[in-house]
Amino acid sequence: MKKEIQLKDKQFQVSIRAKEIQEIIRKIANNINNDLKNEEVIFLGILNGSFMILADLMKEITIPCLVSFVKFSSYDKDKSTGKVRELIGLDENLKNKTVVVVEDIIDSGLTLDNLLITLKTYSPKKIVVTTLLFKPQAFARSFKIDYIGKEIPNDFIVGYGLDYDGFGRNYKDIYTVKK
Ligand code: IMP
Ligand code: MG
Repeated sequence: MKKEIQLKDKQFQVSIRAKEIQEIIRKIANNINNDLKNEEVIFLGILNGSFMILADLMKEITIPCLVSFVKFSSYDKDKSTGKVRELIGLDENLKNKTVVVVEDIIDSGLTLDNLLITLKTYSPKKIVVTTLLFKPQAFARSFKIDYIGKEIPNDFIVGYGLDYDGFGRNYKDIYTVKK
């Protein structure tokens, strides 16, 4: 494991090691296995950041479930309506299912707030929010987060799916930017 990494113009030092990440994920999985064992569950990873956590989480899930990924695409529909955020990749029927949204990190909460509004239009039975990491000092929304792996300070991090300008997603440890 590298203690420090350089990505473009920034230096980062290791802050959450792979072993701790895996322990956190096992705890989340145990809770989900207990709490949702009687539900019709679909796990929904939010790309790109959540590809690592969803893969590791699923290895610890023992209840019957479906797994899928979605992505928010931003595009300019036309000049009058401005930016439109569209959910892509959702083939599954969510009606009456328990949807477990899996995020790498919740920061301001803006991304997920938008996603939750969109998901509700698919008439799920309920939506459960899971995140590996949470920055309480940055959170500016009010939705409930059901499973939080770890609370972290309001610093910029990379690794384990999280990126700096697209780079750094490939590390199994998490690194914090050096100030
Ligand atoms: P939010 O909308 O502010 O909650 O941000 C959510 C998204 O921003 C996350 O899913 C990440 O993709 C990204 N993000 C937030 N904080 C960080 C960070 O510290 N490093 C890398 N990406 C981050
Ligand atoms: Mg993300």
